[in-house]
Amino acid sequence: EIQNGDEGYSSAPSNIALIKYWGKNLSRKQIPDNSSLSYTLGGFRSFTKVTTQGRFLPETYEKTIPIRNKLYLNSKDIEFPIPEKMDILIQSIFYNFADEITLKIESYNNFPTACGIASSASGYAALVGAIADLLQLKKHLSAIELHTWLTEWARLGSGSATRSVIQSSEDSFIKWELEDSCKESFTKTSELTFHPKWKQLEHCVFVLNANEKKTSSSDGHKSASTSPLHNVRVAGVSKKIAMMTKALKEFDFDLVQQISEEDAFAMHAVMQTGNPSACYLDEDVSKALALFIQMRDSNEVLAFWTLDAGPNLHILYYKDAKQILTEYHVKLQELLDRDIKIFKNAYRGGLLIG
Ligand code: PMV
Repeated sequence: EIQNGDEGYSSAPSNIALIKYWGKNLSRKQIPDNSSLSYTLGGFRSFTKVTTQGRFLPETYEKTIPIRNKLYLNSKDIEFPIPEKMDILIQSIFYNFADEITLKIESYNNFPTACGIASSASGYAALVGAIADLLQLKKHLSAIELHTWLTEWARLGSGSATRSVIQSSEDSFIKWELEDSCKESFTKTSELTFHPKWKQLEHCVFVLNANEKKTSSSDGHKSASTSPLHNVRVAGVSKKIAMMTKALKEFDFDLVQQISEEDAFAMHAVMQTGNPSACYLDEDVSKALALFIQMRDSNEVLAFWTLDAGPNLHILYYKDAKQILTEYHVKLQELLDRDIKIFKNAYRGGLLIG
């Protein structure tokens, strides 16, 4: 029985896809067009507390002004306009429990908003985790059932949030697959086994443009299927995932680099050739990429790049590349003639807030 004032807590990491998901079935189930594979950004986390508010008794329901779900993002004092998608998600979850319940959501990110990392993956994974805690689902469901519950609801918030639900390891690689038989769930996520050397992998983002993106990922997913390249990319994803899974086990760095970089370009090619077309690879990104590739290749250091649906350069690298990345930062600022911020996925172990 849910009482007014009940609380639930959770935290979840962000992630960056190395083999992207782009394009989805826009029905209520939001099934992605292709499987994907991501690296967990354990240092970039969302911390979320939910509190039930406004449980009305049926006879007083008519007389009461319905209380809306409320969102406080990174601040206890300022109410943030709740995205419609989040509102609908909460209503849908509570529909089966007590549909008159609304929530106060307090969420904190330990990473800055304009740092080139979308907070939707960690944010939605932490939100559904906090609701599961509020509903005490751990007591009522098996570990597998709970995992399925979390991933299914997280996906409806943000596809990439599905890959942020698994929390067993900070530095994990997560595979998000389509299920053949949709009995329990429509998709499945699992943690991949990887060679211990990947534990030393580091990640940072060069923020080339911190402005809000012109095309939201929801709109982008909608136009993916209009690109003549979309089906070609989707058809090749399973093979890429199988190859990368093997390369992660064997520590084949070159193959992981090659597949990640090729797939990031492939996703951006689909974006650019869709209708309407979305182009995130502006002149600055092209210059930044060319300089990175030239410096990385001439120094033969272990580092590769990827790009999300935005103009910010994500670099995954080993210690031996640190010096080159410092030099790269200086040269990049000279080349673009302005300050470029870097954010590092460095708060391993999580930072407790609030
Ligand atoms: O998480 P969504 O549904 O907003 O879509 C984002 C998809 C990309 O970040 C561009 C790629 C990915 O696989 O994370």
